[in-house]
Amino acid sequence: MLGNFTYCNPTKLYFGRDALNGLNEELPKYGKNVLLVYGGGSIKKNGIYDKVMEILKAHNKVVFEDVGVMPNPTVDKLYEGIERAKKANADLILAVGGGSVCDYAKALSVSVYCNEDPWDKYFLTFEDVDNKIIPVGCVLTMVGTGSEMNGGTVITNIEQRLKIGHVFNENVFPKFSILNPEFSMTLPKYQMIAGIFDIMSHILEQYLSGEDDNTSDYVMEGLMRSLIHSSLIAVEDPHDYQARSNIMWLATWALNTFVAKGKTTDWEVHMIGQAVGAYTNATHGMTLSAVTLPYFKFILPYGLDKFKRYALNVWNVSAAGKTDMEIAEEGLVEMESWMRKIGLVMNIKDLGVTESMIEGIVKSTLIMQGGYKVLTSDDVRKIVKESFKK
Ligand code: NZQ
Ligand code: ZN
Repeated sequence: MLGNFTYCNPTKLYFGRDALNGLNEELPKYGKNVLLVYGGGSIKKNGIYDKVMEILKAHNKVVFEDVGVMPNPTVDKLYEGIERAKKANADLILAVGGGSVCDYAKALSVSVYCNEDPWDKYFLTFEDVDNKIIPVGCVLTMVGTGSEMNGGTVITNIEQRLKIGHVFNENVFPKFSILNPEFSMTLPKYQMIAGIFDIMSHILEQYLSGEDDNTSDYVMEGLMRSLIHSSLIAVEDPHDYQARSNIMWLATWALNTFVAKGKTTDWEVHMIGQAVGAYTNATHGMTLSAVTLPYFKFILPYGLDKFKRYALNVWNVSAAGKTDMEIAEEGLVEMESWMRKIGLVMNIKDLGVTESMIEGIVKSTLIMQGGYKVLTSDDVRKIVKESFKK
């Protein structure tokens, strides 16, 4: 582990079938006004809403609701939420939903008492919070983003065609998160699969950087092997509790800052995927799957040793009689076959991208510095065009 770093993760997790009982321990720590934040209504259909409300009532909380957080939450929704949270004088924001709801709750938590425009401050100029933060708790219902145990919040500005993430410090992490794998069982299969790839992508964005011998890489190889194994079971039988619970736990560890330690990290797949998302509003994990292989094939020569290691240690490619390049490429062939098997979207055309959007997507893509190749705009264009091919 070269370099210096600090590690702190203040989010308390309650995991398993009984996890919701954790709310009974957490609620007494906060004042009486709770702003309950949720999405388009799935929690009402699957009964999670009633279960949460029952516990809130048992603790005599005054519950205000902020409903209709959309997938890929928008800045307009955030402005609306700020007014609601102010009226509620919220002591706690309780997010019940997926990454979008958890992300939105965090964005809200730093924006309610912000005297400037939160879009400008947090998402355009990436400033830190210097005002009061409302504590956030999460009850997770969709697995993938890791939002339940990190400071990330991704907001879309439809007008500006920008989808931007701000990763806040530990003071913005959820104070607690409830992880009951059963709560994710009602997810449509498409969402489950998108979440699985989101997890894979988070791991790879961190794994595919650096050349040193780093414990984080060994941990990530184990996480990826477990994810591949459980994903194949979950796709066959989405009700397999063991597979779904492994995937839930994996998702949290893939992006709670632990495996990033000692790594420069890449995140270019996410930057291209987010630009695609800004133009299509497509499901996050699918935007990543559609651009990943064209990106990996493009950067492979620059990160050959790591791609070879990935092929050998994650995809069990045999090295016998092969060049490093052949081994590395075979790893990507194995990866592609897994991606197709679990049913991922493999090109951006299938997400609604048209030829006329390509230039805008290139412009909206932020260029990162930590991967094996710092892309030029031309490089991004090549990758986006390759992702557009059938
Ligand atoms: O709105 P509801 O009714 O809740 O329906 C949601 C939504 O339509 C549905 N859903 C969630 N749980 C369900 C369910 N349907 C049935 N049963 C359940 N148990 O699933 C749909 C998608 O939910 P969403 O929260 O949008 O998905 P996800 O968790 O993938 O979150 C995506 C957002 O997170 C951001 C993405 O950019 C995107 O905006 N990310 C956040 C990150 C972070 N905080 O670190 C990192 C990620 O890379 C990602 O960028
Ligand atoms: Zn992601």
